[in-house]
Amino acid sequence: MEKAATTFFSLALVLMLMHCFVALAGGAANYTSSDESALLAFKTHITYDPNHILATNWSTNTSFCNWVGVSCRHRGQNRVTSLDLSHMDLKGSIPPQIGNLSFLTYFNISYNHFNGHLPAELGQLRQLKVFDLYINDFSGEIPSSIFNVSAIQWIDVGNNSLSGSLPDYLCSHLPKLTVLWLHFNEFSGDIPSHLGECRELQKLSLYGNKFTGFIPREIGNLTQLKRLVLGGNNLQGMKV
Ligand SMILES: *[C@@H]1O[C@H](CO)[C@@H](O)[C@H](O)[C@H]1NC(C)=O
Ligand SMILES: *[C@@H]1O[C@H](CO)[C@@H](O)[C@H](O)[C@H]1NC(C)=O
Ligand SMILES: *[C@@H]1O[C@H](CO)[C@@H](O)[C@H](O)[C@H]1NC(C)=O
Ligand SMILES: *[C@@H]1O[C@H](CO)[C@@H](O)[C@H](O)[C@H]1NC(C)=O
Ligand SMILES: *[C@@H]1O[C@H](CO)[C@@H](O)[C@H](O)[C@H]1NC(C)=O
Ligand SMILES: *[C@@H]1O[C@H](CO)[C@@H](O)[C@H](O)[C@H]1NC(C)=O
Ligand SMILES: *[C@@H]1O[C@H](CO)[C@@H](O)[C@H](O)[C@H]1NC(C)=O
Ligand SMILES: *[C@@H]1O[C@H](CO)[C@@H](O)[C@H](O)[C@H]1NC(C)=O
Repeated sequence: MEKAATTFFSLALVLMLMHCFVALAGGAANYTSSDESALLAFKTHITYDPNHILATNWSTNTSFCNWVGVSCRHRGQNRVTSLDLSHMDLKGSIPPQIGNLSFLTYFNISYNHFNGHLPAELGQLRQLKVFDLYINDFSGEIPSSIFNVSAIQWIDVGNNSLSGSLPDYLCSHLPKLTVLWLHFNEFSGDIPSHLGECRELQKLSLYGNKFTGFIPREIGNLTQLKRLVLGGNNLQGMKV
């Protein structure tokens, strides 16, 4: 009698564990396919890949964690943490699915020919620390959602064709920002007056844009600042 009960409970336990395992496996498949499909969407938005790097290497035959330029976190589900496609001579645009790479901390596509507008979904990348688009052909505005990613430390969009004005609250949610390179674009309007709230800012370049108005006094609050480049604009000096 007692033995039968024990057997019954053991069986129940095994079934329960199996159920858990199936649930976990299902979850894993889901997360994996979400990151994989985001990368595949990225691949389909590449219009020129002269060395066939992504065309041959980003194959579903192997885990996306082995794809060139992709690094993953292997704890728990495999999630993309880094995407480095710098210096690959690529043309294309960034699809909105990029926002699904929710563990992405490092995004570097510098020295390419990416174009089009930046998707607002970039603002969903809550863990993003590095955002490097230096030397590409992006146009339109920087989606303001990016200035809500409070983990961000490094923004380099230098040498693109980005335009529009920067939001006044630019620094209100970016306490960790250390580098802000905006040089050689077509940004206009005033320099955001709340710049002083980027307490950790060390390097700031607005060179070669169409900024107008006064240089905000709050720049003097940036005690970590080592490099400040404001030339090549239509600025009027310091307001007194
Ligand atoms: C997988 O993702 C879909 C769509 O996001 C969702 O509806 C479904 O509940 C998920 N399944 C599991 C097991 O998490
Ligand atoms: C893709 O590139 C990575 C890194 O260079 C390499 O380890 C891997 O074997 C390549 N995979 C394919 C399918 O070519
Ligand atoms: C992927 O698998 C298919 C079918 O097995 C094969 O034809 C193809 O060459 C493989 N591609 C790579 C990059 O290994
Ligand atoms: C990924 O992103 C796209 C576009 O932002 C969205 O429609 C889709 O539901 C997202 N989720 C998955 C699992 O692909
Ligand atoms: C991005 O990639 C370029 C080229 O490989 C490199 O020089 C640069 O330091 C990288 N940016 C960051 C912020 O790591
Ligand atoms: C930024 O975050 C604030 C507070 O969470 C929210 O009210 C606002 O809509 C967000 N802005 C954008 C552009 O995502
Ligand atoms: C950046 O843009 C400026 C102005 O268009 C140009 O003079 C400079 O050569 C560019 N730098 C690089 C490295 O492409
Ligand atoms: C920031 O700068 C402004 C204007 O120079 C000044 O009034 C204010 O006290 C400063 N704030 C801090 C926290 O240093």
